This record gives sequence, structure tokens and C-alpha cells, in this order.
Amino acid sequence: MPVFDLGLQPLANDFAGPDEAHSGYAPLRVMFCPRCTLAQLSVVVDPEILYRRYSYVTSISETMLDHFQKLMSLLSGETTGTSVLEIGSNDGRLLQYMQSHGMRVCGIDPAQNLCEIANSMNLRTVCGHFNKETARSTQSCFGSFDCVLARHVFCHVDNWREFIESLSEVTHPDSIVGIEVPYCVDMLNRGEFDTIYHEHTSYMTVQAMDALLKGSSFRIYKIVRFPIHGGAIMMLLCHRDSQRSTDESVAAYLKEQVTTQTWSEFSALARTNIEELKKFVSEKVSLGSTVVGFGASAKSTVFINACRFTRTQIRFITDTTPQKQWKLSPGTDIPIVDEGAILRELPDYAVCFAWNFRDEIVAKNTLARSKGVRFVFPIPRLEIV
Ligand code: TMP
Repeated sequence: MPVFDLGLQPLANDFAGPDEAHSGYAPLRVMFCPRCTLAQLSVVVDPEILYRRYSYVTSISETMLDHFQKLMSLLSGETTGTSVLEIGSNDGRLLQYMQSHGMRVCGIDPAQNLCEIANSMNLRTVCGHFNKETARSTQSCFGSFDCVLARHVFCHVDNWREFIESLSEVTHPDSIVGIEVPYCVDMLNRGEFDTIYHEHTSYMTVQAMDALLKGSSFRIYKIVRFPIHGGAIMMLLCHRDSQRSTDESVAAYLKEQVTTQTWSEFSALARTNIEELKKFVSEKVSLGSTVVGFGASAKSTVFINACRFTRTQIRFITDTTPQKQWKLSPGTDIPIVDEGAILRELPDYAVCFAWNFRDEIVAKNTLARSKGVRFVFPIPRLEIV
């Protein structure tokens, strides 16, 4: 049944140059299954369109480095193995970190431009989607891996069954698989509606994952929660007949309930978050204040279009990613500029669409704040720093 609907929306990461056309719009509507508690988008956009001009680069920030550190210590507590395959390895930031800690690393990612960056840094990266065919060819070139990691990639996958089956090709009986997903319960409780966009075809609960794995050769043996990206869980999988005991965290997460009522409360919270930011920006702009955006994340596209902001309201959005700078935000054509623009232009307000890096953003903008720039965090509730 439908539980959340933002209508027709542009593709969130479709940042296009002034001479390029944007890829268009598609419905952004979430359907929920009360039986297995899985939520999925009603429409899946062709991956060829969605990822052909992919500008999302894993941000290298204090927050992310701290997360990488936590992942390393988790993995070294779980396995003595030293080889890692990362599915959706992006430009290889995590692989680089793991390699520097003595791991034998390999990546697989569909974005040609990002694979080239990773390979140029000697981080072996296969270019392609993870499926039976690429899993087999990766295994025949590099052997099986002690650990397979898929961070924030499972929710991008439409053919889950093939994804899970392909894991058998690249693992051995003692391998572990770490699947990190945005945690649906955190998203629902905090009204993080801007993490709903066309690339995220599913919103995962542990019950839904457990149901999916029932007929497979894998099972979840442990779940670890992380604050990254507004709340995420790492589901650790092992082969079904492995000797590993199932940690008590699994039963605890299986008890967390998501119902149609949870989605309806989330929907109301999301509308409040949209209305609050809309009102705030409209009032400030009508009083002559300048407002800009901070962080051209996919979330910024969703938030800005849900609020129907224009480029006269949000003058520009800053972002540290070179691939995004001097491009236009989908749906509104708000320009993306470098982060130095904050100090050059000294706007009155910078709306932080990368709210998931709140503490880091506040800390690194002390100078701008001392010069009068106020930072606005729209999630979980409007906050001005
Ligand atoms: P993400 O939340 O999807 O990782 O996207 C965060 C975006 O925000 C990414 O494009 C990088 C950008 N960013 C900045 O521009 N400045 C910052 O200080 C941080 C932490 C992120």
C-alpha cells in the first residue's frame, strides 16, 4: 500500500553542467508491505539513466574517517582474514584506508569515472554492477574473499535475489559479509524524508532482510548500529551452515516494529519538516536576508524540490566535491559552488542539507559563524547554530 508520496521529482544526483540537459522526472512514491515490513519505491528508474553521470563521491571527512576506523575494528574482531571485496567501492576511499591497514583489497563499482580514480591509486577495481557474471569474473581473477562489504549499496539494488546469490561466488565457507544500510527505523523516527530518492529503491528493516535471506545460503549473525548518514545498521552475514553463533542483537532488531501507523507518523513529521524550512526561508528572504545551501547531497535535491525553493530563495549551494562544482541542482538549477563561497559571500543563513555531518560542519565553520553566518539544520527539527 502507498505510505509516502512526493509526486514527480527530479533524479537526486542528476547534477548537470549549464550546457547539459537534466535527465527528467519520475514519481517518488513509497509502497509498504505490512506482512514483511519492507518499503519500496513504486517505480524503479532505469539504472542506465540513474547512474550514467554519477557525481556522488564518498565524502572524505572527519565523520567518515571515524566511521572507517569503527568498521576496521569491527571487522578485525569478527575475522582473522585479510582480504576484502567492497561492492560499490566508489572512488576507493574505504579500500585505500583498509589497504593502509594491511588488507588485500579489491573493489567493484559501476561508475567508470570513479573506477578510473581508484585504479590510478593502485586500488584494484572492477567496473560493473555486482551480479553473477561480474562476481564470477572477479573471483576468477582475484580468488575468494574473507570479507565482502557492501556499504549503502543494497538499497540501490533492484534484483536482490541475484545480489545475494552472487555473494556465494566471491566467498568461502568462513567468509563474512557486511551489508550496511540506512536504518529504516531511524529514518522514520527522525523524519529523514530526504533520504528517500530514486536511487534508494528499498527502505530496509531487519525483518525484511531476514525474510529475503530465508531461501538463501546466508543468514544474519550480528547487527551493529552506527550514527553515520543519519542512522545506519551493519548486518553481518555468514554462510547458513557456518559454526558462528547468532548474536543476541539479531533477536533484538527483529523485535523493532514498523507498521503502517509508523509510516503515517513519519509522513506527518516529514510534512512538518518541509513546512518549517519553507516558512523559515520565505520569511528570511522577504526580510532581505540572503540564504544559501551547504552540501549538495542527494538530500538537498529532495528537500529543495519538496519545498519548491527557487534560485532567488537559495542563491547557491556549496559542496566540496569537485565533480559537483559549477553544475546545476536538478529541478531548480540552483548553482553548486565551492565551499570558499561561504566566506567570500558571507550569506546570512546557510541551510545545511548535509545535516548528517552536523557536528563537523559546525566545528569547521567557526570563522564564518564569527562573521555572522548562521547555520540552519533542517533535520531532525529545525535548528539554527
Ligand atoms: P552525503 O550525506 O550523501 O554523504 O552527501 C554529503 C555531501 O555534502 C557531499 O556532496 C559532500 C558535501 N559536504 C560538504 O560540501 N562539506 C562538508 O563539510 C561535508 C561534511 C560534506
